[in-house]
Amino acid sequence: MSRFPTKRGLGLLPLICFAVVFFAIPCRAAFPAGAKETGASRKLEIFSWWTAGGEAEGLAAMFDIYRVKYPTVFIINATVAGGAGSNAKAVLATRMRGGNPPDSFQVHAGHELIDTWVVAGKMEPITFVFKDNGWLADFPKDLIEIISYKGEIYSVPVNIHRSNVLWYNKKIFAANGLTPPRNLDELLWVADTLARKGITPLALGDSGIWASVHLLESVLLGTLGPNGYKGLWTGATKWDDPEVRTALTRFTTLLRYVNTDHAALSWDAAVQYVIDGKCAMTIMGDWAEGYFKQKGCTPNKEFGWAPSPGTQGSFIMLSDSFGLPRGAPDREEAVQWLTLAASREGQDAFNPKKGSIPSRTDGDRSLYDEYQKSAMDSFKTDTIVPSVTHGAAASEGWLALIQGIMSTLVADLNVDKAVDGLVQAARKYVK
Ligand code: GAL
Repeated sequence: MSRFPTKRGLGLLPLICFAVVFFAIPCRAAFPAGAKETGASRKLEIFSWWTAGGEAEGLAAMFDIYRVKYPTVFIINATVAGGAGSNAKAVLATRMRGGNPPDSFQVHAGHELIDTWVVAGKMEPITFVFKDNGWLADFPKDLIEIISYKGEIYSVPVNIHRSNVLWYNKKIFAANGLTPPRNLDELLWVADTLARKGITPLALGDSGIWASVHLLESVLLGTLGPNGYKGLWTGATKWDDPEVRTALTRFTTLLRYVNTDHAALSWDAAVQYVIDGKCAMTIMGDWAEGYFKQKGCTPNKEFGWAPSPGTQGSFIMLSDSFGLPRGAPDREEAVQWLTLAASREGQDAFNPKKGSIPSRTDGDRSLYDEYQKSAMDSFKTDTIVPSVTHGAAASEGWLALIQGIMSTLVADLNVDKAVDGLVQAARKYVK
């Protein structure tokens, strides 16, 4: 299996980055042309990577509420496309380094927020948003803990996403007498059965290598179990443990069953393959649910779901949050935005479209669909483990090393080499 498109793409990367940074940023920072004609006298710039189906609509739903509350503020929707922030994070870093921060930006709760931005002194504490509104008790304690540093809270978590979900095309499964695989051996068996019938079993869109890391985190959890998986991030589980090797071998075996054009596809294009019946299933976070719905699919009708194989009883969590960069040009509007993102009203407008569940514990359950209700229940009862792909388990430096190793593994399928790389990467980051 080769990743030629990625290698080719690498050559273009500096050019693309230059174009994005050079052309996009100066336009975004200024008061936008035409904004005054709308009657606006103030502005608010929100930076995110939410451009795909479901996520874009969720963001728009929060903007709609903001506009009604603050009609004189012009919202600049500063998005940089690319799942998991694969392009946005670099643009953000350039802006922050250049003293040109947006008013608020999307950042994953946990290591991504704290290690990248808070420890570096780039963020303002926003504990007051929670305290002034009496909302501290409305968020899970563990979540507050991972967005806090030295006694202060540094972001507003707008949701909880689940990473370890298998999504499948119900028609294909029914026509072939299949049920969702419960463990990784069953997954390989189901994949083999489908492949023999000429159906591509597993959709993957890893034009951003994060999607392969995303698949790997499910396979690691499905092989090592929650304690073994958690131990990877604390040093309690060694990266040359035989079970890690087994997980990596299973991952490379799975690659035999994915669409051949995976390296040219984005995550949402891969989900579209499942909708179109070009592939039978995919493993993706539940933003895929937002995408399915936005494309007119109904949970449990056109698509079904199950915990990714072998991960029943565990919930790989991640949370999208918004923070307040020091020097935000429109600080007052940013605080209004953060207050909306922390409110029940804001979360209950955003999450039903996004596929995620509210991070607040008092969300209105009746607004959520069957899948989301099942995620709410699992979040209450399952063992919660952090996602590495989406910023919760490890710092961005460590994740970047893992991504590099996975790019190579997807191309050369050399498990021993990958294990060596992963051991060395962990050595740098586990104290
Ligand atoms: C994740 C993010 C989700 C969704 C996804 C695909 O990192 O947490 O909200 O946007 O990327 O872009």
